[in-house]
Order: sequence, then C-alpha cells, then structure tokens
Amino acid sequence: MISKKRLITRDTFNKLILPVYNPLSFVPVKGIGSRIWDQQGKEYIDFSGGIAVTSLGHCHPLLNQVLKEQSERLWHLSNVFTNEPALRLAQKLVSSSFASRVFFANSGAEANEAAFKLARYYSSQVYNVQKNKIISFYNSFHGRTFFTVSVGGQLKYSNNFGPKPSGIMHASFNDIETVKSLIDHDTCAVVVELIQGEGGIIPATVSFIKDLRVLCNQYNALLIFDEIQTGIGRTGKLFAYQHYNIIPDILTLAKSLGGGFPISAMLTTKKIVSIITPGIHGTTYGGNPLACAVAESVINIIDTKKVLSGVQEKFEHIKSELNVINKRFKLFKEIRGRGLLIGIVLKSEFSNKIREILNFALLEGVIFLTAGNDVIRLAPSLIIDKIDITEGMKRFYRALEKVLY
Ligand SMILES: Cc1ncc(COP(=O)(O)O)c(C=O)c1O
Repeated sequence: MISKKRLITRDTFNKLILPVYNPLSFVPVKGIGSRIWDQQGKEYIDFSGGIAVTSLGHCHPLLNQVLKEQSERLWHLSNVFTNEPALRLAQKLVSSSFASRVFFANSGAEANEAAFKLARYYSSQVYNVQKNKIISFYNSFHGRTFFTVSVGGQLKYSNNFGPKPSGIMHASFNDIETVKSLIDHDTCAVVVELIQGEGGIIPATVSFIKDLRVLCNQYNALLIFDEIQTGIGRTGKLFAYQHYNIIPDILTLAKSLGGGFPISAMLTTKKIVSIITPGIHGTTYGGNPLACAVAESVINIIDTKKVLSGVQEKFEHIKSELNVINKRFKLFKEIRGRGLLIGIVLKSEFSNKIREILNFALLEGVIFLTAGNDVIRLAPSLIIDKIDITEGMKRFYRALEKVLY
C-alpha cells in the first residue's frame, strides 16, 4: 500500500503553493552533513548549502542538541521580554566585531530593511530630512521587501509593483567614479555587498571599499555592508570586512548565522543608535530564543581557527579539482569568489548550457546553484568533508561528459 506520506510529491507544489519558485523535480527528505536524500532514497552531494545557509551542513549534532535543549526550556516570548539566548548571542556578535549594538530579525531582507530605515532615521534626526538618499549598486541584491528590492540593483525584482520608494540611486560596482558622480550631502547611506552574490560572485576590490569609506566620511553618509551571504565564516574570516580592514557603520547578517534556522541581525554602533527610542522599529519574532540559541552555537563552532582556516583549504581543494575538470572540458572562463562562496564562470559559448549542466549534475547526484546568467555557484557547508568534495567533483565530471560528448 502506498503510504499517505508518499502521496505528497513535487506535483503537489503546483497545486498548493504560489508559483514564485520552480523547485527541482525531487523532494529531499533527509540531510546529514553535506549529503541529502530524496523521497526515493537517491543521495546527492550538496554544494548549494541551502543558498549559503547551512554553514555547518545538515542536522549538525551539536546544533540539534542545542535546539532540543532550548525547545524544552522556552520557545518564544516576543519583544515584551528579553531572553538569555538573545543576550548571549548579542554579546558574542559585539565582542567579535566592530559593533556595539545589535537588532535581531528573521531574514536577510528584514535586517536590510532595518538598516535602511535606521540610516534614514539617523540622518533625519542628526542632520536634516533631506538627507535621505541611498546609493547602492547595479546587480546588487538586498532582499525582497519593497524597500530592499528597490535598493537592490536588479529592476526585474522591483518593477511592476507600483510606485517605488524614492531617493534611491544606483552606481556601478567596483567603479568609484560613478559613486562620486552621485554622492552629495543629501546622501544618508551607501550599501554594498563585499562579494556580489546573486549578481554573479563578484568580489569588491580593496581600493573600491577603501574609497567608499573615504567618500562616506566626507559626506557624513553611513556605510552599510550587506554581509548576509558573506558573513559568519563564509569567506574564511568571521566577517568578510575583515579581509578589507575597513569598518562599516552598519552590517547585516543572516543565512550562515542560523545554519538553517531563520534568524538575521543588524549590527551597528552606540553612536548611531543614540537617536533610537522604543517603538521606532520592531518585529514579533526577532531575537526568538530558539533561533538565538542555535545561532550562538553556530558562531561558537565556526569562529575557531580550525573551521576558518579549513574554509580556505577547502576552497583550494575545490579549485584544484575544478582546474582538473577544466583541463578536460575547457569550459570555465574563470573561478572566482572567496572561501566557500565560489563562482565558476562559463565561457560565453557554454553559457546557454548552464541549465543542462546543472540538470545532468543532479542526475549524477550533485547539487549546484547559479548566480547571474553564466555562473555556477557553490556555497557548501563550511565543514564539508574532503571525501564529499572529491566525490562531488567526480559526479560533476561525469555530468559534463554527458552534456558535452
Ligand atoms: C546579499 C544578500 N542580501 C540580502 C538577501 C536577502 O536575504 P533573505 O532571502 O533571507 O531575505 C540575500 C539573499 O540571497 C543576499 O544574498
């Protein structure tokens, strides 16, 4: 007899769920480390990491233990109370970063929404209400709320939803002259990803970030680093800004922070929050004890020499395997990114094959993501096993053989 559970299939999605996504044809039911299994028991090696989220792989035993313990103590309180896991997590974030104040929310978009609102509020209180211009970059991505899609630099995500918030301008990424042509004393903030993730895994240059800091200082604008994809060890340092030696005024985190449990954070300084009073902003779930307990453990595990230097070693391993693959197939133009946020840029003559390549990879049992139109993105667990990398690359090789020969 077919169990009732098995009647739930990918087709059920089309019948019940808003088609804003087009999920893969199989339904995963179990995950351990960097491997997942579907309803039919087929096993996959996961280089997608839940889009840079499952930073410690699937169902990490220590995270499971913390989640279980916290679930037996306290689930939810709301912001009428504070709670111990939130306070401990805030302490941890503050002691390991430039920041002295933290706001917790539930998703990357919410952390950015809070950051943009804070920048405008701060400037209106400290300077004047005209100082509300936000500069961001073409191809950037900052989330799907209406403010964050409007700040993001991809019109396809913000068009056709009616009038957008005004005062938002876009400059060219890694091109400081275009920022100079837009910035003035009415600018309240510049927001930048240190590696443009959705835009194609494009790292910001050191000189660009340094120059942004100088310009922001000159015009009293706040510099916001969106580290939702790059934060919490993804690039081999706890925060990607530590590679640049440049301190932002506001930093946003999500994804890897919860290792799969929804949580985000906006970090800033005492000076900037000095104008904030209760009621200015808020959320029901932000600082939820379950999420904060898990995130505290995620950071405790990741913020160690072993895990962070391991990220660099794993990057080298993946890169050398990819170089071997490319010797045979000659289809990669470039391998870019930092740590375990890796973009494989396809040569232009192969970019129309990207879907087919990923589909054949799935048939062989290995999962990748895309970024932009011609980039295969890898954002696996920061502690992915060597064996999983080697086996995953073997499967990728076999998939390419099928697509190209
Ligand atoms: C850089 C960046 N900012 C913001 C977001 C939005 O995060 P969320 O989907 O959790 O709202 C993302 C998600 O991909 C991101 O990569």
